[in-house]
Amino acid sequence: MADLSRRRFFGVGAAAIGGVGLGSVAGAVVARPAEAEAVEETVPFRGEHQAGVETPAPAHTTFVGLDLKPGTDRAALIRMMRVWTDDAARLTAGRGALADTEAELATAPARLTVTVGFGPGVFRAAGLEDRRPSWCRPLPPFEIDKLEPRWSDGDVLLQVGSDDPVTVAHTVRVLLKDARNTATVRWVQRGFRRARGSEPVGTTMRNLMGQVDGTINPEAGSNDFGQVVWNDGAEQSWMAGGTSVVIRRIHLDLDGWDELDGPGRDEVMGRRMSDGAPLTGESEHDAPDFDAVGPGGLKIIPEFSHIARARPMAPRERFLRRAYNYDEAPDGIGVSDSGLIFVAYQADVDAQYVPVQQRLAEADMFNQWSTPIGSAVFAIPPGCREGEYLGQGLLG
Ligand code: HEM
Repeated sequence: MADLSRRRFFGVGAAAIGGVGLGSVAGAVVARPAEAEAVEETVPFRGEHQAGVETPAPAHTTFVGLDLKPGTDRAALIRMMRVWTDDAARLTAGRGALADTEAELATAPARLTVTVGFGPGVFRAAGLEDRRPSWCRPLPPFEIDKLEPRWSDGDVLLQVGSDDPVTVAHTVRVLLKDARNTATVRWVQRGFRRARGSEPVGTTMRNLMGQVDGTINPEAGSNDFGQVVWNDGAEQSWMAGGTSVVIRRIHLDLDGWDELDGPGRDEVMGRRMSDGAPLTGESEHDAPDFDAVGPGGLKIIPEFSHIARARPMAPRERFLRRAYNYDEAPDGIGVSDSGLIFVAYQADVDAQYVPVQQRLAEADMFNQWSTPIGSAVFAIPPGCREGEYLGQGLLG
C-alpha cells in the first residue's frame, strides 16, 4: 500500500511538472520532464552479462572491496549472493529492497547498476580453487607501484553506479547491511564524472588533469566489444559471459602538472589537451600515426608518450577503460589529493592487461605525474537470468 501510493505520487508529480512547463519560478528551477524521466530511467539487472560494464558510465560509481569473515563457506556465500541478487533486482528497478528501512530513496534509480566481482578469497572460502581463473590474483608488482593495503585487494567487489549520488549511497548501504554477517568492508572508493546532461551524450570524459580520457575504447554493442571484454569460458566454463576487472587507484600530481606548459602536456600524452586529438591528427577520433616524424627528424608522437606506450603491440592487448575521478581532502602537503580510479575490463587479465601495464611501468613519461597507490583484480561472473542468483554458475 505504502509502495503504491509512493509511486502514484511520483507519477502525478512528474505529470504535473510536465504540465507546468519549463523555466524558473521565484528563483527555483522547475524540473523539466526530461529530468524527471532521467531519474526514473532503469538499466535491466538480469541478462547474459552483468550490467555496469557495457552500460555507458554513469556520473557516480562507488567501488567497495570486502573481506570475507573467517569461517565463511560455500553455503554462506550462496546465501549472500541470493540476498544481493534480490536486493539488486529490486533497487535497479526503482523499488525498495526487502525490509528496506529507507525505501523512499529507491525511487530514483537514475540508471542504477549493481555489479559483483569475486577475488581469489571467494574461491578459497568456497573450496573451489580449481575453478579460479588463472588470472584472478593480484597483479605482479611494478616498479612504479606505491601500493597501500587500504586501497588494494579484497575478496568480493561491489560496484554500484548511478547518475544520482543519493541512490548510490542508499544502494551501497542496503547491500552492505545484507552482507554484514558474511563480510566486512576493506576499502571504499568513490568516483565521479560530469553530471548527466552537462555535456552531449557520447562526449568522452575529461579527468581532473583536463585530459580527454577514454577515446580509444571498444564500442559498446559491437562484436569487437564482445571479443575484448566478455570471457568465452574456454578456461573456466562458468565464466562464459563474465569478465574481469582491474581497479588501480592512481594518484595524480596536479600541483606538478600545473608546472608543465601546454605543449609539454601534449607531448607527455601524445594527444592535444584542448580537444584530445592525436598530435598527428585534426580531431579526437583520428587514428594516431606513430611513425610520423617532424622536421627535426623526431617522432611527432614521442616514443615514450603515454599513448605510444599504451597502444596495443599485439592484437590481444586491448581492454575497456571506464575510469572515474576521485578528489579527497588534501593531506596537508599538496593543494589537492586527486586522481583516477582507473578501471579496466577484459576477458583475460594476463593476456590483455598485464603486457600494457608492464610497458607503462618500464617507460611512460606520464609516470612522473601519476602514482598507483591501490590495485585489485576480480572475476566478474556472468549475469543471471530470472530465478538465478549472481555467481550461481560457480557456487551452485
Ligand atoms: C591516472 C592514470 C592515467 C591517466 C590519467 C590516463 C590518461 C589517458 C589519456 C588522456 C589517454 C588518451 C586518450 C584515450 O585514448 O583515452 C590514454 C590512453 C590510453 N591509456 Fe591511459 N591513463 C592512465 C593510466 C593508464 C593505465 C594504468 C593503463 C593501462 C595499464 C592505460 C592504458 C591506456 C590505453 C590502452 C590507452 C589508449 C592507447 C591507444 O591505443 O592510443 N592508461 N590514457
